[in-house]
Amino acid sequence: MENCCSTWQVEFSYQVGDLLYAPEVQALHNFPHHHRASRYDHALLVAQLSFRVARTFGLDCRATARCSLLHDLYSGCKDSSSPFFFLRHAWTHPKRALKNAQTLTYLTGKEQNIIASHMWPMCKALPKSREAWLVNVVDSFVAVIDVLGWNHMILRSKP
Ligand SMILES: [Fe+2]
Ligand SMILES: [Fe+2]
Repeated sequence: MENCCSTWQVEFSYQVGDLLYAPEVQALHNFPHHHRASRYDHALLVAQLSFRVARTFGLDCRATARCSLLHDLYSGCKDSSSPFFFLRHAWTHPKRALKNAQTLTYLTGKEQNIIASHMWPMCKALPKSREAWLVNVVDSFVAVIDVLGWNHMILRSKP
């Protein structure tokens, strides 16, 4: 079992430390996500897992960590099981998250695409980098983890 000071956790904190404690990110604790997690826990787990995969395969760890943490940065919007709601929400929230993320930090074109395309194929933007594909896949994986109620069994060092 890893302790609280694993190398990846130190590196992860270095890359996203300024964002983790931003009030806009901490506010995500207030919104349910996928029924059994908060939006904060969802985003943090996507960020931790995406970062670890990116680190393992030599991808852009900083872009991956920061954009995956911010990929669902929007307020409001309660969970709903309505298919119409889900499709509309899947189409619109990546744009909202991107707009909000850009008020917190500068994002390159590649980083903007990571956030904008995280719901593809249910949104317009196509992932254009390996990092964008990674976050797209990990986000879907974590959505299943959230629904199953396993988020807190996997999440490490929650700030
Ligand atoms: Fe999302
Ligand atoms: Fe997400």
